[in-house]
Amino acid sequence: MSRPRSVVEVTEPADRVQRPPAEVRYADELARLHAADTAERPPGWALSVQAARRFVVGDSKLGISRKFVGDPSLIDRALITLATSRGLMLVGEPGTAKSLLSELLAAAVSGDSTLTIQGGAATTEDQIRYSWNYALLVADGPSPRSLVPAPMLRGMAEGRTVRFEEITRCPLEVQDCLLSQLSDRVLAIPELTGPEAMVFARDGFNIIATANTRDRGVNDMSSALKRRFNFETVFPIADFGTELALVEAEASALLRRSGVTAEPRRDVLEVLVTTFRELRTGETARGDSMDRLSAVMSTAEAVSVAHAIGLRGWFLRGEPGTAEDLVSCLAGTAAKDNPEDLAKLRRYLAQQVTWRGGDQWQALHNARHLLPG
Ligand SMILES: Nc1ncnc2c1ncn2[C@@H]1O[C@H](COP(=O)(O)OP(=O)(O)OP(=O)(O)O)[C@@H](O)[C@H]1O
Ligand SMILES: [Mg+2]
Repeated sequence: MSRPRSVVEVTEPADRVQRPPAEVRYADELARLHAADTAERPPGWALSVQAARRFVVGDSKLGISRKFVGDPSLIDRALITLATSRGLMLVGEPGTAKSLLSELLAAAVSGDSTLTIQGGAATTEDQIRYSWNYALLVADGPSPRSLVPAPMLRGMAEGRTVRFEEITRCPLEVQDCLLSQLSDRVLAIPELTGPEAMVFARDGFNIIATANTRDRGVNDMSSALKRRFNFETVFPIADFGTELALVEAEASALLRRSGVTAEPRRDVLEVLVTTFRELRTGETARGDSMDRLSAVMSTAEAVSVAHAIGLRGWFLRGEPGTAEDLVSCLAGTAAKDNPEDLAKLRRYLAQQVTWRGGDQWQALHNARHLLPG
């Protein structure tokens, strides 16, 4: 099967796309790593293990940015798993960059992260393996021409990484259709005859699945399928300074893409990241315990709130955004539709904010009336 052009190439120039895939966003870095890559590569891989690792964790000498913040040994283990015949399962709290990591790994290993299955209650085997073009099926009968390959079939035939997002949200019987492909490395198409009826996985094929521990636990996976994966847990960022730097860098990049030329204010981001960490852990910076929210207060959410603050400031008033904008954004992110979370948030803004010095903390406290209800 020939390698199809990516959707992005076909439809839009990359700069008009809201979020191009990693291999497009970082095409320069991948080309540089490829050019400098002299180490042995696992069969079917676009880069060596060392170069793939550098792509994810960064390398200042080669000008490669750090894209995933976390333990580099996790990346080593993940890459080695991908070179074996077991799948890689990334589990963890929501918003800990499991999907981002799976995208980066697929881009590094296969040069393409777009062979992705999005798991959900309505996912069917057709969307995972293959389906048919019914007009051609009626005209020609089952044939390679009428076959519509889905990511699993393509990944196997082309020797590429397949991503399976939120695998535990799929019904069990749908998850289990992966079993034979993962153990025997072959996909049978019983409707076809001859050599086309069996698709044997080529070197380079493997699968990266993600599952988050909030929605539905990984317990909902059959033990037969679990045995075919190596599990790696992705943890939230432990250090305040590291999380702040990540939120600042990501929010600046998102704001630039949104046409905002003002950089986000450091003091506002400090308030934002502190607030998120405290509402996530249920403990304030001076060690008081407080109510934690049931809503997910992840780093990914913090980045999107920092982006929204910048947009509000810029498009409503022509400035970078303040703690007052943070209160307006928190209502939609942190409280969602849970009245208890809203009450906890209101208590936090009333009681846990004023003892800290700084204009932005004061502004946060003063703006608490902006919370709805
Ligand atoms: N350790 C991290 N390194 C880099 N970016 C991170 C990290 N943690 C969170 N982020 C931020 O979160 C975003 C990625 O979130 P992503 O959607 O990959 O999380 P997720 O774990 O898949 O969440 P969900 O469980 O909701 O699917 C990144 O774009 C980045 O802004
Ligand atoms: Mg995800």
